Amino acid sequence: MTTIEKISWSDSMLIGFKPMDDEHIAFVEMIERMQHAAEGDLPKLLDQFADIAHSHFDSENKMMEETQFPPRQCHIDEHMAVLNSVTEVQKLLAKGHFNIGASLVNELAKWFPGHVTHLDSALSHWICKKQLGGKPVVIKRSLNVHPTI
Ligand SMILES: [Fe+2]
Ligand SMILES: [Fe+2]
Repeated sequence: MTTIEKISWSDSMLIGFKPMDDEHIAFVEMIERMQHAAEGDLPKLLDQFADIAHSHFDSENKMMEETQFPPRQCHIDEHMAVLNSVTEVQKLLAKGHFNIGASLVNELAKWFPGHVTHLDSALSHWICKKQLGGKPVVIKRSLNVHPTI
């Protein structure tokens, strides 16, 4: 049975480098829109998502190459794998296979928070260290933190 993974922006995904954080917010909003879309609207929304994903991944890939980020190849490969899946599903959606479109959106919602936490945050630390000499300080709002008394 497929688990439906709902996604919405949360500061838990902040990584402290504003250009990336701003693009991640747009990325999540687009996945969320696709999750709530009517079947017939999905092809157009997936096309818009593909544009956002290409542009966002290109900018991260460029930063990794320009700064010679050591573990860049696995990060670049992951971006490429996602774009390949999106391209395949765009073709299938054009033929009316709406279920595969919904599955892709679900997989994107499952994949994205982990990608941000593990790969993008490491890149953010690297860039901030290069630019400012230290790791970013990230202030996260609205997290369910219960202090122990
Ligand atoms: Fe990213
Ligand atoms: Fe990334």
